[in-house]
Amino acid sequence: MKLLTTPQEMQALALTWKGEGLTVGLVPTMGWFHEGHLSLMRKARAIADKVIVTLFVNPIQFAPTEDLDNYPHDLERDRSLAEAEGVDVLYAPDVDGMYPEDFKTSVRVSGLTTGLCGASRPGHFDGVTTVVAKLFNQTLPHVAVFGEKDFQQLAVIRQMVRDLDFPIEIIGHPIVREQSGLAMSSRNSYLKEDEMDAAHSLSKAIVSAKNLLKQDASHSPEQVKEEAARVIVSHPQCSIDYVEIVDRTSLQPCDRISPESMLVLAVKINQRIRLIDNSLLIT
Ligand code: PAJ
Repeated sequence: MKLLTTPQEMQALALTWKGEGLTVGLVPTMGWFHEGHLSLMRKARAIADKVIVTLFVNPIQFAPTEDLDNYPHDLERDRSLAEAEGVDVLYAPDVDGMYPEDFKTSVRVSGLTTGLCGASRPGHFDGVTTVVAKLFNQTLPHVAVFGEKDFQQLAVIRQMVRDLDFPIEIIGHPIVREQSGLAMSSRNSYLKEDEMDAAHSLSKAIVSAKNLLKQDASHSPEQVKEEAARVIVSHPQCSIDYVEIVDRTSLQPCDRISPESMLVLAVKINQRIRLIDNSLLIT
């Protein structure tokens, strides 16, 4: 596996591969790999001739009050995990290479980015779409794999790809969970022992909401949201950022539950760690 660190060398290699008629699969990440990231790499490995994993903790998608400086980072650890998955290139550019001093462009998707995570993290998705557009141009993939864990990010990227005519197929990959149900996340490493129960309230809220609907499918979105919220706030360490039921494509609130309805959650643990989770309600 090659480790590349500059946009120029990355793009040159991607162009060589294109010239040879090879297909390229991309997995963009911010590192501190867990089984969720590794499953995306396996997916890319299964469908493309060459696999590029990018590792870049993108400063412009973090607000000043967020965890940019503490974000877990260990290049050697991630390097050996990616290598074991048969990744061809780990591309880990530095901040100056990605955003030189005279950098002036922002890519913004409107509408889809204003609610949910966009409401509590203003500017976050502009940072995501800007960096992902750059990564697409640097790695020139045929397919790119993203996790459904960040369901809003996935919807926003699909929209950007359509709007800007990127010739890239976007593949969504299911959430990988711990055996306990907790959705894997690099941010789980911030959790202390006594915060684990609270962290589990997100997946428990999803199970509870689904059970309610199994008992009686005519429950309204309000009733289902109330049930999910009840499970979460029963933990004193949890505060709700949002509990919503939205259409999986438009991300608009549902006025009745259908197979397209998705329960989406964002919860803060001890005002310190923000976790997200989601699930279709009827599966
Ligand atoms: P990061 O949080 O590192 O996530 C990288 C990819 O892994 C994303 O597509 C995310 O949805 C996916 N992922 C994370 N946890 C997962 C899980 N438990 N199961 C399945 N997939 C999971 O998302 C980002 O980085 C950044 O915003 C990025 C797109 C790289 C732009 O900077």
